[in-house]
Amino acid sequence: MKFETTNGPLAEQQADALLLVAQTNNQLIGAASDIDTALDGQLQSALSSVGFSGKSGTVAVLPTLGRLPAARVVVAGLGEPSDLTIDGIRSAWGAAARKAREAGARSIASDAPPSMFGPAGIRAAVEGARLGLYQHRIYRSEQNENGDVESITFAGVDEPEQLVAGGQLADGICLARDLVNAPGLDLYPERLAGRAWEMADELGLECTVYDRAALQEMGAGAIVAVGQGSKREPRLIHLVYRPDGESLGVAGFVGKAITFDTGGVNLKPPDGMRNMKMDMAGGAAVIGAMRAIAEMKPSYTVHGVIAAAENMPSHSAFRPGDVLKTLSGKTVEITNTDAEGRLVLADALTFTARQGAEFMIDLATLTGASVVAVGNSAASLFGTDDALAQDVLQAAEFSGERMWRMPLWDDYRRDLDSDIADIVNSGNRDGGAIKAALFLREFTHGVPWVHLDIAGPAWSTKEEGYRIKCGTGFGTHTLATLLEQRARG
Ligand code: BES
Ligand code: MN
Ligand code: ZN
Repeated sequence: MKFETTNGPLAEQQADALLLVAQTNNQLIGAASDIDTALDGQLQSALSSVGFSGKSGTVAVLPTLGRLPAARVVVAGLGEPSDLTIDGIRSAWGAAARKAREAGARSIASDAPPSMFGPAGIRAAVEGARLGLYQHRIYRSEQNENGDVESITFAGVDEPEQLVAGGQLADGICLARDLVNAPGLDLYPERLAGRAWEMADELGLECTVYDRAALQEMGAGAIVAVGQGSKREPRLIHLVYRPDGESLGVAGFVGKAITFDTGGVNLKPPDGMRNMKMDMAGGAAVIGAMRAIAEMKPSYTVHGVIAAAENMPSHSAFRPGDVLKTLSGKTVEITNTDAEGRLVLADALTFTARQGAEFMIDLATLTGASVVAVGNSAASLFGTDDALAQDVLQAAEFSGERMWRMPLWDDYRRDLDSDIADIVNSGNRDGGAIKAALFLREFTHGVPWVHLDIAGPAWSTKEEGYRIKCGTGFGTHTLATLLEQRARG
């Protein structure tokens, strides 16, 4: 799909659909209001007659009945002017572009987003449209039931670099979605490493992949143990982006990538296992972010480290009571094989700290307890560094990714004391997300660190705006935005 700009008026565009916007009380804005005037107010009255009032989240499709070169108009509601956010722009363009596709449009000409957000608004509209049109079709035998939108042209917009940036971010998020949506049968650690490698090769990132033997040799006993129940062996994937010019700092992004989580010997019940192909969403977000970063080129050195393993029960699986030696040298007594994410992350965090990361952010579908605490649409954020935590929250706010800071209470750490080793991998159930974070903190080696438990928002069961069902790509946008904002100072 291509994005273009034109300086011609929107009303004259020869497209399958014109994308317009309106605010509450059916207030047509921008080109929509010009078109309404040219049609003697008939657009306004047609919208009213189909019950459209400009509420956010609503979209109306109307035929133009030969009054305009375009076949139809798609009008997206932006809601109350005072409630409008940059993410509201993404949502409106996402929902409208999808409706246009449903109506059969292949080419869309779009109004410019409200000028209050400046160039960022155009970028958001591009992101929203591309993400809203995302489809994962490779497992369908019937292709293209609605056809695909091939082009979106923004009229009266002269910001081609914003179109490019929006496309680059959306490409990273779509890659993350593709990876999360891929079934465990097809996307096991070796394949995930292959996908990361291909991306790195295409965009000029460094990529090193450590296989089981190399991990054993390195001393990454936790990744090896989690992966040992599966015929599909574990991998540690290390991507590096280096800026052409000056580097303002060294970032470490770390992702949990359990390509399927059965729970291991502590097997999950069926309902709890149903969607566990998504348990690599943290790793997918890191790969997606590395893709966006490779194209957007911020002035930071970035290490992307993805710990990939499949958690299976078998004769060779690790078991409760086993003691593992992690890459850090610390030992862990296994109390529950289903608390596997924190194990692979322990090694990945140590590895990343050793690369010289000046701050680390990990993303993981780590605990059901995070979903209980903050619900499905938000990530729990934990951090040892207030400035970093604030920066991540600010990037998340801009990115439309909901995050909520949670505490790291030292006394809860006692619940992780082991009778035989340095720490257990799982305590009792209460405060489960906090205790998982406290476990991870043991492996951060004093490097400023933020942990994002994305167990809820990594997967969606509903379609709304640019957010679609299944893998969401959550986290990708915030990571890429964080470096952009930090580089800007
Ligand atoms: N991958 C799961 C967490 C999860 C749950 C992600 C629901 C997405 C949706 C993780 O490996 C896990 O099994 N966590 C356990 C931890 C427990 C054994 C301490 C959990 O949350 O029950
Ligand atoms: Mn698990
Ligand atoms: Zn898991």
